[in-house]
Amino acid sequence: MKVAVFSTKSYEKALLAKVSETSELKFTYFTHSLNAITATLGDKFEAICVFVNDDVNSQVVNMLAKQNIRHIALRCAGYNNVDIETASRNGIRVSRVPSYAPEAVAEHAVALIMTLNRKIHKAYNRIREGNFELNGLMGFNLKNKRVGVIGTGHIGKALVTIMRGFGCEVICCDPVPSPEIMDMGVTYVDLDRLLTQSDIVSLHCPLNEKTYHLINQTSISRMRDGVMLINTSRGGLVDSQAVIKGLKSGKIGYLGLDVYEMESDLFFENRSTEIIGDDVFERLATFHNVIITGHQGFFTLEAMNEIASTVVANLVTCNTPQANPENFLV
Ligand code: NAI
Repeated sequence: MKVAVFSTKSYEKALLAKVSETSELKFTYFTHSLNAITATLGDKFEAICVFVNDDVNSQVVNMLAKQNIRHIALRCAGYNNVDIETASRNGIRVSRVPSYAPEAVAEHAVALIMTLNRKIHKAYNRIREGNFELNGLMGFNLKNKRVGVIGTGHIGKALVTIMRGFGCEVICCDPVPSPEIMDMGVTYVDLDRLLTQSDIVSLHCPLNEKTYHLINQTSISRMRDGVMLINTSRGGLVDSQAVIKGLKSGKIGYLGLDVYEMESDLFFENRSTEIIGDDVFERLATFHNVIITGHQGFFTLEAMNEIASTVVANLVTCNTPQANPENFLV
């Protein structure tokens, strides 16, 4: 089977090549992303493989269908960038990697929490400049703080476990509560209660019509003064303008982002010699109490190996009884 891989990075190429060695798959790697222009490249292939910022909207899916693409294999868990309905209408299978080392993302959320709290980013620079002053570096103990986890699927669950290890009280909000989490003695509350009672709020739900801008001016106004907000899920969950207002007023005391609503125009590329035209992003980056990483939560060796082997398994087993139904959206 010939597969066009979009948005390929060198580190992925090596892993995909290794795990597909003994299979019939023939990968062709493109460094650029998939969109209505590059979709014409699907011409000579039976399947395409895409990542988080490839734009697989209905126009693109229709174009792929005309080129006889039978399978869209995602190299990620989230699928908000794919028009599932159009794919289904065209009989195109869509697979994803629902869970690949959820600990990778949960641990990254913890890295953001710890860095913001103990101001490691400032301390790092100070020491390099020979400044050993402690003024402005005071943090707080995590023990006995209340952490609100929104979305307790694979990643949220991993975060609950870690934060309980710090001695935090964890409260959760999810339309489908997890019995496993309730067995730990963790309480589920509604969103408003979670927002009003948490010292740290961490987002781990998918982006969809119901969760778009879940964090907005109204929800921020319900949060505790000086709250720490962490988003390692999807940028669209957060209204960036509202968050900037919250930071300026001091309502939000700390912000940790691994994702950003307009990240597809920025992330995963070296733009250090360009002028960044996104003023919202640039404003966010100026706050001393904001840490932004460029969608690297998933980026551990274990997770990358798991992604590569699941993508290959999805491509090989698609339309066979061995296909894992949990991995197929269509
Ligand atoms: P999952 O599907 O295992 O869990 C999502 C949970 O969110 C489910 O329990 C679901 O019931 C819940 N949920 C749905 N709507 C909700 C709402 N309105 N309020 C509260 N909870 C809600 O997903 P997983 O694997 O835990 O991933 C979570 C998100 O993390 C993904 O959707 C993806 O966007 C993001 N992600 C980010 C990565 C990164 O590198 N930063 C890597 C992998 C995933």
